[in-house]
Amino acid sequence: MTNDGNETARRSQAWFGASGRGGMVYRSWMRNQGFGPEVFDGRPVIGIATSASELAPCNAHLTRVAESVKRGVWQAGGLPLEFPTMATGETLMRPTAMLFRNLMAMEVEELIRANPLDGVVLLSGCDKTTPAMLMGAASVDLPALMVTGGPMLNGKFRGEDVGSGTHVWKFEEELKTGRMTQEECFFAEGCMARSNGHCMTMGTASTMACMAEALGMQLPGSATWPAVDARRFEIAQAAGRRIVEMVDEELRPSRILTREAFENAIRANAAIGGSTNAVIHLTALAGRLGVDLGLDDFDALVREVPTLLNLMPSGTYLMEDFCYAGGLPAVLAELVAGGLLHGGQITVTGRSVAENVAGAERIGTDVITGLDAPFQPAGSGTAVLRGNLCPDGAVLKQSAASPRLLTHRGPALVFDSPEAYHEVCDDPELDVDENTVLVIRNAGPKGYPGMPEVSNVPLPTKLLKAGVTDMLRICDGRMSGTGYGTVVLHVAPEAAVGGPLALVRDGDPIVLDVPGRSLRLDVDNAELERRRAEWAPPAPAHTSGYAWLYTQHVEQADRGADFGFLRGCRGHEVPRDSH
Ligand code: FES
Ligand code: MG
Repeated sequence: MTNDGNETARRSQAWFGASGRGGMVYRSWMRNQGFGPEVFDGRPVIGIATSASELAPCNAHLTRVAESVKRGVWQAGGLPLEFPTMATGETLMRPTAMLFRNLMAMEVEELIRANPLDGVVLLSGCDKTTPAMLMGAASVDLPALMVTGGPMLNGKFRGEDVGSGTHVWKFEEELKTGRMTQEECFFAEGCMARSNGHCMTMGTASTMACMAEALGMQLPGSATWPAVDARRFEIAQAAGRRIVEMVDEELRPSRILTREAFENAIRANAAIGGSTNAVIHLTALAGRLGVDLGLDDFDALVREVPTLLNLMPSGTYLMEDFCYAGGLPAVLAELVAGGLLHGGQITVTGRSVAENVAGAERIGTDVITGLDAPFQPAGSGTAVLRGNLCPDGAVLKQSAASPRLLTHRGPALVFDSPEAYHEVCDDPELDVDENTVLVIRNAGPKGYPGMPEVSNVPLPTKLLKAGVTDMLRICDGRMSGTGYGTVVLHVAPEAAVGGPLALVRDGDPIVLDVPGRSLRLDVDNAELERRRAEWAPPAPAHTSGYAWLYTQHVEQADRGADFGFLRGCRGHEVPRDSH
């Protein structure tokens, strides 16, 4: 029996409701925190999984967000228990935070399952922390609700808005071409990151926060409130109240994260001009739920969706502006009105997407445009390419690319690592012009390892000085969501496993045709076969430790770069006791 007379005992009661020695152990040690015996009366026990860490600056304030969630859980009659998870901070972790996304997902999954929880609130912020938490929670399938930590306030430098990430590349170019001094760059660092929160461009963190909301896993409006806005804490409190109800309703991720929910998220991503990283993370998440989602779905679903949001890196504004213009609900309302979303899809509110956003208003027309006059026309979202250079696919973010390069033929200049390119990119003698195609390889999931965000390498200094602003780059790695340029990403299979990218040589003609969705190496098959016979895989960089485990089990980019053994849902049952 539970405290409300419900016949079915809650999951947590298998611990706290137990009699004898076992129950004593479960309760007694909890009481050392000052909990009275009444909290074990069968009320819902809500885990608050927080990825707060001073090593993940975008998540550092989540401890405060957790306090607000707790208030809400108490208000609704639940017992909140906060616990820390790993935090994959994008800016500090080497060789790349992506190497640890699956590790974090695995940790989140195991912590939720192993503990006496009935439901969980997931607190994330920086890029990988959001998909990692969603993946872990999906594989347990207890009621779960996400609260992202919110973006930083707009950066301000010399009276102008500057965007995290996006302006790092701009400042680097200005430094190289002598338009900025080193002192000015130091000063700009502080101007760009002036409050708690994650990147305030439409980078991967903002994208994944919006994806969590579009998927129906966080409360409407949750993605966009700035990290320091009081309403961020209000919504966290509301989330605390709501998760208690969700436990009673048995509203689990598997009911929310359906094929339709993923289709909604993919379309929302096109409408917000979101990060290419969403392709990888959504694919991996779908794999946890057994939802069949392939790269071609992404391409097909975005073709009729215009970009409605004018945010960096594709546009001008930043997340704070997006929030004040109506936030994601205003974008989703526009898509629902245009028949571009499955409006009936259920969300964490217990209501449908269409019900959640009914009455959401667009304030002004500059930041969030309408379907009648979109910021960029339909079909400008992330394109999926195929061809003999990427048999299992590659992606290109059209809204961040130069239109003139979307159909292009040029000679390859090949680098076996990003470092090899960086060594020569300042060389005034480098044999390169604006038609050259820079090929950077061995930056894939196994090759680096971890598939880092190194694909949008800066242009050769020689070309920057000549006023060239973009050139075609091709890589098996990823690009930061805050990055821009004509960059073909996620080439699969990657070079390190013998993908055709490994066979390209300097001078080979490469043909990109984005409207035709193809990427080809114009070298005949016989020659490619001859080169393949000569190819040998690179020596493994790791023979032990987690990085070794990663290279043994990571899947290719088109499968979401999850571990094969983590696919699927393993549920919340734990048959055996600990003592
Ligand atoms: Fe954490 Fe951009 S570095 S969100
Ligand atoms: Mg990033």
